[in-house]
Amino acid sequence: MSNDTLIEKLSAERNLSDGELKELLDSKESDQSLFAAADRKRREIYGDEVYLRGLIEFTNHCRNNCYYCGIRCGNKSAERYRLGKEDILACCDEGYRLGFRTFVLQGGEDPFFTDDKICDIVYAIRSRFPDCAITLSVGEKSKESYKSFFDAGANRYLLRHETASEEHYRRLHPENMSLANRKRCLFDLKEIGYQVGSGFMVGSPYQTTDNLIEDLRFLQSLKPDMIGIGPYITHEQTPFSSFTNGGVELTLRLISVLRLMFPYALIPSTTALGTLHPQGRELGLKAGANVVMPNLSPVEVRKLYSLYENKICTGEEAAQCRGCLERRISEAGYKAVTAIGNVKKEQKR
Ligand code: 5AD
Ligand code: FES
Repeated sequence: MSNDTLIEKLSAERNLSDGELKELLDSKESDQSLFAAADRKRREIYGDEVYLRGLIEFTNHCRNNCYYCGIRCGNKSAERYRLGKEDILACCDEGYRLGFRTFVLQGGEDPFFTDDKICDIVYAIRSRFPDCAITLSVGEKSKESYKSFFDAGANRYLLRHETASEEHYRRLHPENMSLANRKRCLFDLKEIGYQVGSGFMVGSPYQTTDNLIEDLRFLQSLKPDMIGIGPYITHEQTPFSSFTNGGVELTLRLISVLRLMFPYALIPSTTALGTLHPQGRELGLKAGANVVMPNLSPVEVRKLYSLYENKICTGEEAAQCRGCLERRISEAGYKAVTAIGNVKKEQKR
């Protein structure tokens, strides 16, 4: 089948066989028509709206030691920080003033932040900003913990599965972590009633196209509301320091494939994409993404939340990023909106 026929089929049926997906992912010939098809689909459902999420990176302590990540516990040269509840609330105040109606609290798996502490913070944000969504991204927890965060007022949860291949998962993580537990977390979160986001890195060490297809298949079984992907970017203080970065083109192609497979998903154009290409985030939007997550963390700590090297926006104040992104979004042909931006649900087909 020609790539154009594959793109048409994917648009109409939201699915392709493994062989067809492989063909599409491995060839860059039809990128422009793929991006255009994905953009048509996103406009059909979400118009030209781009939703803004204010990201607050509140701790870079992490008990895990993932081989790809700069804040892994084994990185002894990382300077660690935590934000207190009042710091976090101050970020939210500033974010609210700038028009953000979703706050994303992201951190490493930091034992200092017990369930009680997280609930207390979530509850404080919920009370002060009843009209906002609260998204948590604090890793793998028990179902009871997830339920207590939900009851305290959290609505959404981001937890990338990172790779859906058992074998690939083993190459990216130490023995004490498991893909099975990660999946358990994601299904627990859905069951509790969170809007759930998952996703994976593109071009991570040892990743094959077959692995990427497994990622897509896993997402089909999970049916997440949000799907975040970004290129793998190397970090000096990890065992993967000699691996090369993931590709911008392949990431864009996957954003388009995701948009066509999951027309209703909220898909961010990620900071990692913006880090590898000066127009990365704009290109992501044009390839089908409809969310951006500028940083609301205090500038003093921005550089320290270093998952990978050369992360952008570490010197800019929240207001600067807000203005900069608004400009970039409109130059790309879309509109930044301050709406809460919940996922749209499809009427039964
Ligand atoms: N390059 C790109 N993305 C990374 N992440 C972690 N380390 C890296 C890296 N070196 C991603 C993971 C994680 C998210 C918060 O950041 O996918 O889920
Ligand atoms: Fe942060 Fe452009 S988005 S400076």
